[in-house]
Amino acid sequence: MSIEDAKKAVGKAAADLIQNDMIVGLGTGSTANYFIEALSVRARNNLFLKAVVPSSQRSHILAKRLGLPVQELNDVPYVDITVDGADEIDPLKRMIKGGGGAHVREKILAANSREMIVIVDESKLVPAVGVGKLPVEILPYGSPATRSNLEKLGYLGKWRIQEDGSFFITENDNLIYDVVFSAPPPYPQQDHEQIRLVPGVIDTGFFFNIAGRVIVGYNNGRIEIH
Ligand code: A5P
Repeated sequence: MSIEDAKKAVGKAAADLIQNDMIVGLGTGSTANYFIEALSVRARNNLFLKAVVPSSQRSHILAKRLGLPVQELNDVPYVDITVDGADEIDPLKRMIKGGGGAHVREKILAANSREMIVIVDESKLVPAVGVGKLPVEILPYGSPATRSNLEKLGYLGKWRIQEDGSFFITENDNLIYDVVFSAPPPYPQQDHEQIRLVPGVIDTGFFFNIAGRVIVGYNNGRIEIH
């Protein structure tokens, strides 16, 4: 079984947890895409969904194409469950997201859902968050100064650049500065707060106290729900 099969399996396992009449938040990314596909299969059979609420244009387009009843977060009274992937998750269910640059909307959607179900393959499990990069969304206005203020605090990193050499632009028309830690930080919540206090920073990709059930897919085909 490959990583791709594990992603597909957790997407289907999450879709199987969705019940009739729910309003369902849709994450962003390759694993979330498998969830959206599996959900649409159930919706074409016997599952009735009140609405699905995407966290990005990409998920919106996919959900629409698959015939799901898409609505925007501003237009629904509540969200029952949001299902999303993660770049890193540790045993305390602390996460890093934003590999796809959608973490600001993903966090708003997840934080305003009754539960966030996280779906990951085993490659995303880390002993403590901060092994890879930490995406930080930054307003373009004054962005060189914002970066330099982050560097002065010790948060070294790189602007996220696309293949054609242009800046990666988020759906909120902002930039992404990917912070790289030399080792997982011992107090990531403090780093999150310190980074957020820098004017020009919109939010970091750290997610604390948001994850509900976590579905992990292993390469040997096993699935665990924590
Ligand atoms: C999107 O901005 C991210 O937060 C994704 O949820 C995260 O990067 C996981 O994506 P994959 O499922 O593609 O690894």
